[in-house]
Amino acid sequence: MDLFTEQDLQQPARVERISAQGVVLRGFALPRVDELLAALRGVLQQSPLRQMHTPGGLAMSARLSSCGTLGWTTDRDGYRYSPLDPLSTRPWPAMPEVFLSLADAAASVAGFSDFVPDACLINAYAPGAKMSLHQDKNERSYTAPIVSVSLGLPAIFQFGGFARSDPTQRISLFHGDVMVWGGVDRLRFHGVMPIKPGRHGLLGEQRINITLRQAG
Ligand code: SIN
Ligand code: FE2
Repeated sequence: MDLFTEQDLQQPARVERISAQGVVLRGFALPRVDELLAALRGVLQQSPLRQMHTPGGLAMSARLSSCGTLGWTTDRDGYRYSPLDPLSTRPWPAMPEVFLSLADAAASVAGFSDFVPDACLINAYAPGAKMSLHQDKNERSYTAPIVSVSLGLPAIFQFGGFARSDPTQRISLFHGDVMVWGGVDRLRFHGVMPIKPGRHGLLGEQRINITLRQAG
């Protein structure tokens, strides 16, 4: 039995329901955050954060990297998953075990069993960086949920509807919070408002988000 399951039995995660099949699990990642950050550092040594451009040529304000058998990338040729890191020209770093077990534990608390992500997108936001409203829809199937871990500076996450113009909920996300959405909510538009200036004790002047998906 892994740590997260034990934790849930002893002390239920603070679960905030945000939609029929969407939840925020407050502080869910905190018990293993040191392990997470160590694994993240290892990943970023092999595949560093870098600036990517949208197909339309706009620079994204968050810097990105990936791990797992598939990594999400974007450039002039479009949004896609690739088995190779275009920067290193080698496979993306392996998905760390702690990412897999955290993602599976969070998904199961949210009601999604057997979540085995093959792709992990890493987004690093300096103050002022944001992520425009979008849907996660480059994955081959939408049956698996999205599991999203927030680290470092807080963010205001926008959780919208199924059209870009639908109203959005604004959800504050803090270091260690994990969001899970899937099922009927899998294709909701979502985004991140510009990160407010600040300094986080462990991560400094940045927010890091890791998003785990079943892409292939
Ligand atoms: C994303 O949707 O790719 C990022 C979400 C986040 O940074 O919280
Ligand atoms: Fe997304």
